[in-house]
Amino acid sequence: MYCGFKTPSHGELLVEQEIVQAEKNQSRLLSDYSNYLFPGQGWRKPLSSPVVDFVRPIVGDTKHVTLKTVLDGLSRLRATDSVRWVDMGGGRALPMRQLNSTSGFMQRFKTTNVDLFDFGLDGLLPSELEELERLAPGATESEAEPVLITENVETVTLSEPADIITSIELMQYLNDPLAALTNWYNLLDDNGVMMIATEHAWCSWIRYKREPSNVCSYETPIKQFLKELLKNGINFAITKESDWPNGTRPAVDPDYFRIMAIQKKPGTFLRVTEPVTDIWVNPYKFKAVYYETPDKGVAPIVEVCRPRTHRVLGAMSLEGVS
Ligand SMILES: C[S@@+](CC[C@H](N)C(=O)[O-])C[C@H]1O[C@@H](n2cnc3c(N)ncnc32)[C@H](O)[C@@H]1O
Repeated sequence: MYCGFKTPSHGELLVEQEIVQAEKNQSRLLSDYSNYLFPGQGWRKPLSSPVVDFVRPIVGDTKHVTLKTVLDGLSRLRATDSVRWVDMGGGRALPMRQLNSTSGFMQRFKTTNVDLFDFGLDGLLPSELEELERLAPGATESEAEPVLITENVETVTLSEPADIITSIELMQYLNDPLAALTNWYNLLDDNGVMMIATEHAWCSWIRYKREPSNVCSYETPIKQFLKELLKNGINFAITKESDWPNGTRPAVDPDYFRIMAIQKKPGTFLRVTEPVTDIWVNPYKFKAVYYETPDKGVAPIVEVCRPRTHRVLGAMSLEGVS
């Protein structure tokens, strides 16, 4: 089997991303995260979207949906237990710092940033640090830092499941984005949510290697992934934009969206069934990732599994749903 891609070692990944990330922004604020996830909510008359509808059971009838209202909603639902929020590829983790510096937040939330690097606040301009302190006094203090795990988000493990996983402007740098999506799903607690957004339609950069006649030209890994979620009753929402000001909901193309939210269905896990065969990188260092085509495009590229408990040693194993 031709394979133009070899998984880089952790060291090789660090070398690659150190160069790539030197030209990128790791300092988005809480308001930026909200705008990525819920575009149109900042308007005086907020514009809804499929992703806003998705979080409605969590946020209640709050007028403007933001990441903060989602976190507060989860905290209400979990009552006395802390909400475990993990940001994948969180960079300098400024949204977590902003919230951790607000009164009472750290009593209700455990925040974790997973990133290849410990960017800290080094390299921020004095004016940027001042602005951060103006927005959230105490945000630059070490007490406001989330826990940092310097690992690859595709394979990272957590010491406890997450209630919410966010990922902003990360998907385009991954070597195996489906491995990341499935890993994050598996790291969620029952009914936990993961929310992913970029500025571009990241899903259209996840592709099949099209050998002659091996797959229908209209099949894409993400479309098959969404079909598999639907088939198994896993709740999700996708969109590339907010509803329009006249209330119209634009058609959503399963091959061309940029915001995705998925809720973990209790008792389910996800597994990628095919390897990456090729990666093409554009001048902005975004990766187009090509997967081997599963069985002429019939078998799911991402499989929903249900764990069965074996008597022997009481071990858990993942078995595919037929
Ligand atoms: C463009 S920055 C976005 C940072 C942050 N989410 C924000 O919006 O400010 C992408 C981040 O993903 C991290 N990253 C890239 N590939 C990664 C990987 N495989 N595992 C963990 N982090 C990764 C980079 O180090 C960088 O901090």
